[in-house]
Amino acid sequence: MPTPTERQAERQTFSRRRLLADQTAATVDNSLSSSRNGEVVLGDLRLNLDTLQVTLGGRSLKLTVQEFDLLVVLARSAGKPLSQAELAQHLWHEVTPERIRHLSVLVARLRSKLADSKFYKLRTLRKRGYGLMLPPINRIEELKLAKDGLDVLDDILRYASTGAPIDSDDIERMKWYGVFYRKQTPGFFMLRLRIPNGILTSQQMTEIGSLSNQFGRGKIDITTRQNIQLRWVRIHDVPQIFESLRRVGLEYRQSGMDNVRNITGCPMAGLDPDELMDASPIAGAIQDVIVGRKEFSNLPRKFNISVSGCRHDCATSQIHDLSLTPAVKDGRAGFNVMVGGMGGEDADFARDLDVFVEPEKAAALCIGVIELFRDKGDREDRRRSRLRWLRETLGLETFRAELQARAGTLERAGTSQIERFAGDHLGVSPQKQPGLSSVGCLVPVGRVQGDDLLEFSRLAETYGSGELRLTNNQNILIVNVPEECLAALLKEPLLQKYSPQPSAWMRRTVSCTGQDYCQFALLDTKGSAMEFAHRMDELLPRETAVRVHWSGCQRGCGQHHIGDIGLQAARRRVGDEVVDAADIFLGGRMGQDPRLAVPVLEAVPLDELPQRVAELLRDTNDQDALPSA
Ligand code: HEM
Ligand code: SF4
Repeated sequence: MPTPTERQAERQTFSRRRLLADQTAATVDNSLSSSRNGEVVLGDLRLNLDTLQVTLGGRSLKLTVQEFDLLVVLARSAGKPLSQAELAQHLWHEVTPERIRHLSVLVARLRSKLADSKFYKLRTLRKRGYGLMLPPINRIEELKLAKDGLDVLDDILRYASTGAPIDSDDIERMKWYGVFYRKQTPGFFMLRLRIPNGILTSQQMTEIGSLSNQFGRGKIDITTRQNIQLRWVRIHDVPQIFESLRRVGLEYRQSGMDNVRNITGCPMAGLDPDELMDASPIAGAIQDVIVGRKEFSNLPRKFNISVSGCRHDCATSQIHDLSLTPAVKDGRAGFNVMVGGMGGEDADFARDLDVFVEPEKAAALCIGVIELFRDKGDREDRRRSRLRWLRETLGLETFRAELQARAGTLERAGTSQIERFAGDHLGVSPQKQPGLSSVGCLVPVGRVQGDDLLEFSRLAETYGSGELRLTNNQNILIVNVPEECLAALLKEPLLQKYSPQPSAWMRRTVSCTGQDYCQFALLDTKGSAMEFAHRMDELLPRETAVRVHWSGCQRGCGQHHIGDIGLQAARRRVGDEVVDAADIFLGGRMGQDPRLAVPVLEAVPLDELPQRVAELLRDTNDQDALPSA
């Protein structure tokens, strides 16, 4: 308990603190910090000027009154050191040797309390005094601190209305609104949506098709995150597109850069007769919490989540930063939690966190993991910023303990209900709802026209309930089709183009964007993938599908590391010519005993590729390279 004298001192300092706070609020909106509703935010440091509470990385920090005062002054000029005299003047209105000595003691104490900050270090700068300085960080961290991605909306509207040249940092920030400049299409943008669990109404799909026809040459890609990317969009048209998307309840914010990306799940969620539960509402609930909120708009790196109640793991849980998979504990249905999976050059599988969570608590638990990542993830080296690296740095037990400190007591894992890794959901599949079926249609390599989306919507309304689903393999399902309508639906011309019964080599072919729109691509992956599949169908006809994954470069967006056959674009010199080629990987798989595909042949020219793959499969007789079902 404070003594009466301390209380009086506290009262006396209050008005001065309020003044400092007001000055801070007025001036702290410099490029490094922001002040809102009596709260100053500097990266992971938050100072509440009314309650005098300070948190660092979400944890409460105990400061004395004088330390608080000093921190407020330093926050006010974050990034710019203040001399000892200036600081003494601010704090005590006098500069004496005694005050300077006192100041250095205060600084030492404050420095050790702030030592954990990922953003700011309280540094002594020779001859210049003390400052809350940013350690050397990468360009993306700097531009996020200078202006939050969510604050770029007014600029987007300004660029759209004036046609003014776009600032290079704003080009990056526009990705917070799903607007991606594409060097391959100078003057045009890609617009990425958010579609939780890939579930769409026919009204939404009609809007997407119409917008693409009107503003984007009718060119659309369906992605492996059950998402949609519109092409050839002009900045001038972006505000109108935003407005139209909002009208039909479609979200596009935070779909790129250091955000939680579209949340995926089983495309048959709520329909699959065999599922443990319908987990799709959880994907929507998480999205509702994070989108539009600055607490979640500056993560160290991208963050992929999958939530699935399906026993076949078609949501590829093992290559997500965070995944919830179906589990049972003491007779209760819920989820086990896995963390730290990722694809790409540093691909690794997610690890079991030994946590069980009930469906009602699942969204909150995911938010806890996101906050832990936000506050503790690496922000210096972007190659080591994904959750995988935090998991490795902390170790699973400490990770679990840190999460528990935020999310409350965690239960140990339940019994996993995943039976196998499979599920492309193409063709006619009976649903759990009696008399209803889903019809899954192959969209070759995910590329579709605006007009075709309009037709998909019409078919969903005519034969189904108007609902559609996008899959993790870049395809479309029409769902809730009564038995008596199936025959007529299957005869529709659109289903001859987007077949429910594609060939074995086409059926599970997945490809990244490739040269049309991606500056990193070494070749037209989508075109090459289609041609390869057609040639393999002739050369090595099969009954069962082969998972063939194509990536246009080592970044691995086409998930070549998990394909039965993975193909990564390459170049090869043949005589005087440099020809398109691919590195061949074999044997990637998920589920129990997951394995990354291993490289077996380098830079095989594309025209030799079918023959070489056929030989490899015959020679090695490697059954692991091909699925058994
Ligand atoms: C530094 C690493 C990476 C960079 C620079 C990068 C960049 C890109 C680019 C430029 C695109 C094309 C966007 C477009 O379609 O216009 C793309 C697409 C995509 N990337 Fe990456 N990427 C990286 C790593 C990854 C990884 C590791 C994954 C997950 C395995 C991934 C998943 C995706 C997905 C799902 C798409 C959409 C393509 C599709 O599904 O059709 N990316 N990425
Ligand atoms: S894998 Fe490479 S080429 Fe393909 S989309 Fe990703 S970055 Fe582009």
